[in-house]
Amino acid sequence: MELLQQQDGRLLSTFRLAAVLPTVYQCYSTEDLAKVPLSPRPRVHGEGSNTVFIGPELPALCRYMASAKTLNWLDDDRAELHVEAGHNWHQLVQWTVSQGLWGLENLALIPGSVGAAPVQNIGAYGVELADRCRYVDFYHWDQQRLERMTVEQCRFGYRDSVFKREMAGRGVIVAVGLMLTRQPQRVLTYQGLDQLSADCSLQQVFDTVITVRQAKLPDPAELANCGSFFKNPLLPDADVKALQQRYTAMPVYSQGNGYSKVPAAWLIDQAGFKGKQVGDVGCYHKQPLVLVNYGQGQASDLLTLIAQIQHQVHSRFGVTLEPEVQLVGRQATTQTSVVS
Ligand code: EPU
Repeated sequence: MELLQQQDGRLLSTFRLAAVLPTVYQCYSTEDLAKVPLSPRPRVHGEGSNTVFIGPELPALCRYMASAKTLNWLDDDRAELHVEAGHNWHQLVQWTVSQGLWGLENLALIPGSVGAAPVQNIGAYGVELADRCRYVDFYHWDQQRLERMTVEQCRFGYRDSVFKREMAGRGVIVAVGLMLTRQPQRVLTYQGLDQLSADCSLQQVFDTVITVRQAKLPDPAELANCGSFFKNPLLPDADVKALQQRYTAMPVYSQGNGYSKVPAAWLIDQAGFKGKQVGDVGCYHKQPLVLVNYGQGQASDLLTLIAQIQHQVHSRFGVTLEPEVQLVGRQATTQTSVVS
């Protein structure tokens, strides 16, 4: 185990607000995890692509760094890929594509680690981690034991899982099992991929996802951001119908279960926030669902912008936007929920 102290928070969050992380435990095995002090419980952390540190008091972090992967063939077509939590997600997708294995290509270029992927059930272009996941290996702090959780036990939902809820703070995801195939399993329904031919190659899908993402999402290495900042609200169909009567241009994605998703980007756009800034924090001009830090952004600027967006969207549409990004710290000065 490596013990790091007084770490620069800008290196541990792709939103890069100034912050100091008092203690970071970097673990490479379950034996290392067993040595981590648990009082107070450290916060489990990946690459920080969905985490913003709102100082000044920040918790100790624990990072699981091991990143080995093994491929087990189940038959001529299907392979189960076991990969440790510290592996970078996009590099994994790139590797599966280089091996001719279908399954993860729509999830190309999603920032973050493999271990973080199940927590919010990452998803893009019609595919979610839940569709490809076979199991998650979870280390329980209390019993100091490893549990292999089935995909049912993970209770995946839209940007949601048991790891965000009941299991939060109870342990660490150490590995993920994914089901991949040699036979194509094309998902081309999503706008941007629908121009591809029905017999397109794996490489073509992968390349197209990258092109579509790069056209509207800022690269966190160049412009600090955490991807989509808010979840797309899920509303009862009746509420959506009422809204559509007033806003006929509002896009709606029916979920077929009495609920529909309304794009948060559209609501924020309509509320006039596209390109708006508070200090050095802003609403990205090409995709208003993404908040960005132009360099010198302060936590207070971000909290102000979040509160303004939530307030405007709520007063205009009666819809509450919930952050998808985790805000970590104690400076709970707005109505935004802040976890520590
Ligand atoms: N829109 C506007 N104005 C804009 C841009 C978009 O009104 O300037 C509206 C359009 O109506 C568009 C809709 O927003 O149809 C939806 O946009 P898009 O299809 O790009 O998807 P999204 O809802 O913004 C979600 C995920 C992304 C994922 C994309 C593609 C969430 C919170 N976000 O974004 O995930 O890449 O779909 O599948 O579910 C992330 O989680 O960090 C992330 C980037």
